[in-house]
Amino acid sequence: MSKVLIIGAGGVSTVTVKKCARLPEHFDEIYLASRTLSKCEALQKECGEDRVKAVFAVDADDKDQVAALINQIKPDLLVNLALPYQDLPIMDACLETKTDYLDTANYEPKDEAKFEYSWQWAYQDKFKDAGIMALLGSGFDPGVTNVYTAYAAKHYFDEIHYLDIVDCNGGDHGQAFATNFNPEINIREITQRGRFWENGEWKETDPLSVREDLHYQNIGERASYLMFHEELESLVKHFPTLKRARFWMTFGEAYLNHLRVLEGIGMTSIEPVEFQGQQIVPLEFLKAVLPNPGSLAEGYTGMTCIGTYITGIKDGKEKTIFIYNNCDHAVCNEEVGAQAVSYTTGVPAMIGAALMLNGTWKKPGVWNMEQFDPDPFMDMLNQHGLPWHVMECDASPFSK
Ligand SMILES: NC(=O)c1ccc[n+]([C@@H]2O[C@H](COP(=O)([O-])OP(=O)(O)OC[C@H]3O[C@@H](n4cnc5c(N)ncnc54)[C@H](OP(=O)(O)O)[C@@H]3O)[C@@H](O)[C@H]2O)c1
Repeated sequence: MSKVLIIGAGGVSTVTVKKCARLPEHFDEIYLASRTLSKCEALQKECGEDRVKAVFAVDADDKDQVAALINQIKPDLLVNLALPYQDLPIMDACLETKTDYLDTANYEPKDEAKFEYSWQWAYQDKFKDAGIMALLGSGFDPGVTNVYTAYAAKHYFDEIHYLDIVDCNGGDHGQAFATNFNPEINIREITQRGRFWENGEWKETDPLSVREDLHYQNIGERASYLMFHEELESLVKHFPTLKRARFWMTFGEAYLNHLRVLEGIGMTSIEPVEFQGQQIVPLEFLKAVLPNPGSLAEGYTGMTCIGTYITGIKDGKEKTIFIYNNCDHAVCNEEVGAQAVSYTTGVPAMIGAALMLNGTWKKPGVWNMEQFDPDPFMDMLNQHGLPWHVMECDASPFSK
């Protein structure tokens, strides 16, 4: 008997809930709670009340509300698909009620655009002592990219030295400017200074100032920009042989032009401003006028290609491999009514949850994805819509 409580009813949650609903062998009972009850009710209607047993309104910024809900439902696992701001109150509620926890993005304070694992890693001893587990970052990146790295280290190399994670959305949603997941979180992430790991230290770059034109399987060449991404922090800690670790994301010229203008006029700021007698945060207002990422699915064409280039040593020789997935927006829409960015996050959240519930990935404490055996996760990716490929490369494709 496995009971899961999912918090959040946005783009990613829609995919996870629908996938879980189709897998009664892993998820006996599904409960759904979020800030806006009507979104939970709509999802419940789509999945059926026999699968999503009950829905609730909850403010997950409030630890006591989450703990009360957990005490009412008594789930085996809480899956946090709300926003990074809610990670700590939800982890506190899990601690209080001795409930396992999973999320897809690391904690970020609302008043500072800064994300890092220190806040959540600080729960390690408390979770261990309570005999409960937290799985951090079970999305695609972070998530699958961490598992790809662990899989490469296990099966392809004696030692890994260079890691480059690449994230390309080669799709077209037909909008002038839209983000593919929560606009506030997304814009906070991409407007930060770039950061990468080299020879034992973090190096910084101006935002989106380092570019490589890379070829992506089934998409073609795309301008790719160096950014900081959260999985770099855990991967360099857990694979200390890494000499360099970087993350790249593709952006088109039109997207970057919109972003530059929005930044230039202050619309991406998180500093509150006075507006008609009240304080508003420009980025929160911008989110309200941008398309809801969940609404982009209809008519979205093209695909994503997200993967990990790894260079290391095997039997004394240097080699490079690329592990990647292509995900087609239209195919995702047909399957679950979502675009590929929600799908590539929502499916790994379901897989992480299934592996925790069936005891395959289970140990008390707070863990990143690469700290478990990658093989069962990689098998489930193939079975549940995110097949992967391994390509042996003649040389690394990066010029720098
Ligand atoms: N690892 C990865 O690969 C990856 C990729 C993309 C996204 N993500 C992460 O996935 C998460 C979900 O992203 P998304 O695109 O699905 O965002 P979204 O569409 O904005 O959905 C977020 C959901 O959380 C709910 N929520 C927000 N604040 C809440 C609160 N205080 N209490 C209860 N519920 C609350 C929202 O409620 P309302 O409906 O009322 O707004 C919404 O239903 C984010 O943390 C994002 O960073 C991870």
